[in-house]
Amino acid sequence: MSSFSFFPEQAATFSSSVDAIYIFMLWVSGFFTLLVVALTVFLSIKYRKKDDRAPEAIHGNLLLELIWTGIPLLLTLVMFAWGTFVYVKQVHIPADAKEIFVVGKQWMWKIQHGEGPREMNELTVPVGKSIKLTMTSEDVIHSFYVPAFRFKADVVPGKYTFMGFKATKPGKYHLFCAEYCGTEHSKMGGWVHVLPQDEFDKWLASHVSDEKITTAPTAAVATASPSTIVESQSTPALAAAPIVAGVPFVAQGKKLFHDLKCISCHSAVSGAMGPNLNGLFGSEVTLDGGQKIKADANYIRESILSPNEKITGGYQALMPTYKGQVNEEQILAVVEYIKNLTDQKN
Ligand code: CUA
Repeated sequence: MSSFSFFPEQAATFSSSVDAIYIFMLWVSGFFTLLVVALTVFLSIKYRKKDDRAPEAIHGNLLLELIWTGIPLLLTLVMFAWGTFVYVKQVHIPADAKEIFVVGKQWMWKIQHGEGPREMNELTVPVGKSIKLTMTSEDVIHSFYVPAFRFKADVVPGKYTFMGFKATKPGKYHLFCAEYCGTEHSKMGGWVHVLPQDEFDKWLASHVSDEKITTAPTAAVATASPSTIVESQSTPALAAAPIVAGVPFVAQGKKLFHDLKCISCHSAVSGAMGPNLNGLFGSEVTLDGGQKIKADANYIRESILSPNEKITGGYQALMPTYKGQVNEEQILAVVEYIKNLTDQKN
């Protein structure tokens, strides 16, 4: 680095808003630190013990107490309101944001683009476009941190967390893990590459493979009877292909949906053993007990791993868990497939 600077580069829309709050807090803290130190030194010299006279007792001063309570209260409320305002803007991710999937694992970041490209400890994004990160962890808690974008978000096993940002300047920015996660935590970092849109499009095109993936033919699905499903449960190694680079994520999710025999019960025909998943994402689901919940990504994930947790009204708790048979990337792919299901045809 050629010149010393107190702050990392500002390279996303929220960078300057976050810095403004930080600078305000720095000035307030600096002012009061100096004030307290100066008064302490001044008063201890002025009122030092000069003779044996006992000091006068003081029994309070209402005005003074109101002032030194009121001013800090106001200042901290300003920090609270201002911080909340910026935070709420930051967590409100525009609906048209480009979604990218992040899986943290001791000690690496696995990045998956919907179009197919996969990256390791690198994240390539276009400049000036809203990005939504859907993040989870394969093991312990990590934290995705890009100082130049002024954002940091916990990446937690067992659930999805979301973060949005919009890069404003092409360049290469440091990416860190900001949560101590084991011996190689300090090495769990990488780079975010922000490219102009046309370069990004080229990058994307060069990382998409022409390879077609084949999903199980319909005939095989039709013959899957309940007995074969029970059988496959006792065989731990289901034919769950690992996520590959270059193939659209939804297509890989669809393949898993067939290979794992999800399709046998969620076949979208009347009388099927499992609920129809067409248009499920974002809709309201009425559960067995009458409770209503919104079908978001976390709900779909939970239903794959702990199917008996929330049973859809009118259905029985027949579904086996897929815990241990699919990794977080494969679950993300299946969730992505289900999110995009509107007119499922076998
Ligand atoms: Cu992952 Cu620290």
